[in-house]
Amino acid sequence: MVAVFVDWENFVMNEDVNTKIEKYYDESTFFYRYLWGNKKNLAMHFGFWDKDTKNLNDALINENKYVADALDIKKGDKVLDAGCGVGGSAIWIAENYGANVIGITIIKNHITLAKKYAKERKVSDLTRFELRDFCDTGLPSESFDKIYSIESACHAIDKRVFLKEMFRLLKKGGKLVVCDGFIIKDHLSEIDKKQYEDLCVGWALPSLASYSKFRADLSEIGFRDIQSQKATEKVIKSSKEMYKSSKYIHPLMVIFAKLQLTSKTNVLAELACQAQYHIFKDKTAVYGIFTSKK
Ligand SMILES: C[S@@+](CC[C@H](N)C(=O)[O-])C[C@H]1O[C@@H](n2cnc3c(N)ncnc32)[C@H](O)[C@@H]1O
Repeated sequence: MVAVFVDWENFVMNEDVNTKIEKYYDESTFFYRYLWGNKKNLAMHFGFWDKDTKNLNDALINENKYVADALDIKKGDKVLDAGCGVGGSAIWIAENYGANVIGITIIKNHITLAKKYAKERKVSDLTRFELRDFCDTGLPSESFDKIYSIESACHAIDKRVFLKEMFRLLKKGGKLVVCDGFIIKDHLSEIDKKQYEDLCVGWALPSLASYSKFRADLSEIGFRDIQSQKATEKVIKSSKEMYKSSKYIHPLMVIFAKLQLTSKTNVLAELACQAQYHIFKDKTAVYGIFTSKK
């Protein structure tokens, strides 16, 4: 399968990718915190629904639980949250499993908020939040029992470099879980390309990884017991909710942008919130969960 990459040059201009990502989160974290997640879940992910899930908050917590169970997290485990947002999953795992979690992100404000929330929730002793790039962390090799990355690896410029770094950081026998969107179509129609570009531009993604290439990369890098599942059905309800609300507020955002009451970044992010649903619905991409061991 051919990996599909956005012509990033056209969108980034003179900024490098991480600068673009920083700008995106500096301007949009407010929306994640107040229009999507809440103070309880602190989540910046889709959330997993099943027949018993009552509401979005439960779905957002379910995703943490799914990941923690897939990793078989135990009290005292040393865990890395690669791309930790404002610390929602790391704090929840520390509270519920007693694991020691280090969360890393390239957004300074995420670190400040994550530390503040960890203190409020009385898990500062079990959590650490550090400003680091997950493609080149500078952390010692073989220092983690478990690593997860929830909807963050999509920001990596080169997903293989990201996976190599995760492999280096894991202890032998350690486990990795990655949850994210993955391209599955070999060829994109003009409409698919437009949706895909809206998604990548609006959410500051260099690309989505190809599902099959990601699996091949895991194997070539040396991961074993690789399990992958296409799990769009777990997130589609959240995806549709996001689509509906962003479609509703998009005209307002355009007016706000014209009046300089919101930034262009946020208008483009709203378009991405619409594009993500088309991409799942048209099966251009799937929501994938990869579990593997070193
Ligand atoms: C969509 S948010 C998901 C946050 C969190 N995993 C959650 O589920 O709430 C993506 C996160 O990846 C982080 N990120 C993006 N590029 C990164 C990089 N190169 N290194 C570390 N973190 C990165 C962003 O700062 C952001 O915190």
